[in-house]
Amino acid sequence: MVAHCATVAFQGITAVPVDVQVMIGPGKHAMHIVGLADKAVAESRERIGAALHASGLAMPHKKITVNLAPADLPKEGSHYDLPIALALMAAMGAMPADALDGFIAMGELALDGTIAPVAGALPAAMGANALGKGLICPHVSGSEAAWADPEMDVLAPRSLIAMANHFKGTQHLSRPTAGMRDGQLAHGDMADIRGQETAKRALEVAAAGSHNLVFVGPPGSGKSMLASRLPSILPPLQPRELLEVSMIASIAGELADGKLSSARPFREPHHSASMAAMVGGGLKAKPGEVSLAHNGVLFLDEFPEFTPQVLDSLRQPLETGEIVIARANHRVSYPSRFQLIAAMNPCRCGMAGEPGHTCRRGDRCAADYQARISGPLMDRIDLRVEVPAVSAADLMTPAAGGETSATIAARVATARAVQAERYAGLGLHITTNALAPNTVIEEVARPDAAGQQLLRDAADAMKFSARGYHRILKTARTLADLEGKDTVGRIHLAEAISYRMAGRRLTSA
Ligand SMILES: Nc1ncnc2c1ncn2[C@@H]1O[C@H](COP(=O)(O)OP(=O)(O)O)[C@@H](O)[C@H]1O
Ligand SMILES: [Mg+2]
Repeated sequence: MVAHCATVAFQGITAVPVDVQVMIGPGKHAMHIVGLADKAVAESRERIGAALHASGLAMPHKKITVNLAPADLPKEGSHYDLPIALALMAAMGAMPADALDGFIAMGELALDGTIAPVAGALPAAMGANALGKGLICPHVSGSEAAWADPEMDVLAPRSLIAMANHFKGTQHLSRPTAGMRDGQLAHGDMADIRGQETAKRALEVAAAGSHNLVFVGPPGSGKSMLASRLPSILPPLQPRELLEVSMIASIAGELADGKLSSARPFREPHHSASMAAMVGGGLKAKPGEVSLAHNGVLFLDEFPEFTPQVLDSLRQPLETGEIVIARANHRVSYPSRFQLIAAMNPCRCGMAGEPGHTCRRGDRCAADYQARISGPLMDRIDLRVEVPAVSAADLMTPAAGGETSATIAARVATARAVQAERYAGLGLHITTNALAPNTVIEEVARPDAAGQQLLRDAADAMKFSARGYHRILKTARTLADLEGKDTVGRIHLAEAISYRMAGRRLTSA
């Protein structure tokens, strides 16, 4: 007889159904797993044998064949233990044969028969729900899985024995509750930053339209401090965004204690980060920083210190909002629509351009350092902001008087609401100006006559690229939205152009 248990394989953050088939047949005692399984799956054999033994069930002394169908779908990870063990128990008669019909199961087994946590419970639950089934998952993943749908069945047993007892009716498993992490993470307040009015304004614009931004300035001028305040003025995630972000975190195994959070992701990988850490992949296919920053912020401090390969790899997700990783025999893709915030010194010694400073290496120092950021990458950054050293006078002014994060966040939220409504009205699945397609931005950011004149003059004088042109329109649209204006005017364009042209020696737009 063949017993079945449904489970899933992950392709990116999508859960694809997999049917585990177990047959106990005549022959020498052995267990074979077939169906394009990787090494972690092949090791299931040992864990399942030990876990069944610890649960008081002896493995039958017969030939056991396990097939993971469809056979051409690659199977990675250790979450196949539980469905294989459950199907085997059904085949042995240790469990009612039809008990598993309405469920998808996933989980790793420990040698003592307990069920260990695995990544991906939330996407698995969403997949199960789409098929009209319930989910059997490890105990700690229960509160994460419960998010998929309040109506669906979620069983989160601690051990194989608890699972078998539930199906026999001797012990009832209650449905786990969906957990939410309370409170936002602690961030500093914008009011802590003295002076730097231009930089603070640029940060507000970036937050309002989800524009990419780079801060350039000498060490100690407050670039890292400014960037770290961005989360304090960003609006919380929308329900749909929250689910996407959480699915990625779940696949990456980063949903601590299975609780979700509505705070926008803010990822700050160190500049020594490897390709695999940044874009994902590696031994086990896992989302990288660019995906963990989806719907949020990727902050790269000491921007030019990242390796050129890592910097280059950002171009694809910046353009398409998605990252594709090649695996041994297939490809996976993860969503990665993030807002890039970078900070850099103007040169290696950090002091280029400072009044009264002459670099030993002359202009080459700054030129060499800035050349590490390729033109095409810099081209995708709308706001380029020079952050001068803070003066002693600024530092000595009392901290009070500066705007608080709450005040700025309210303006950002209003501007975002305007954008969301505009793009929803056009039937588009975008919520901010930075993400608007070029044809759309030409329509919604059409400048008035004075604005058009300015744009023409500036284009002639500064020779910006076609991409530069559209990006200036996007920033200008955000500036008008912050002001509550329907039409993009000369003043908005002038400010947008100034952001794009600031630090012009950095790059040609
Ligand atoms: N504008 C400022 N207002 C208040 N404190 C500042 C300011 N700029 C710098 N500081 C102080 O200097 C420290 C170093 O700033 P940091 O953001 O690390 O500089 P950078 O990243 O530009 O090298 C901060 O932790 C903060 O205490
Ligand atoms: Mg810094």
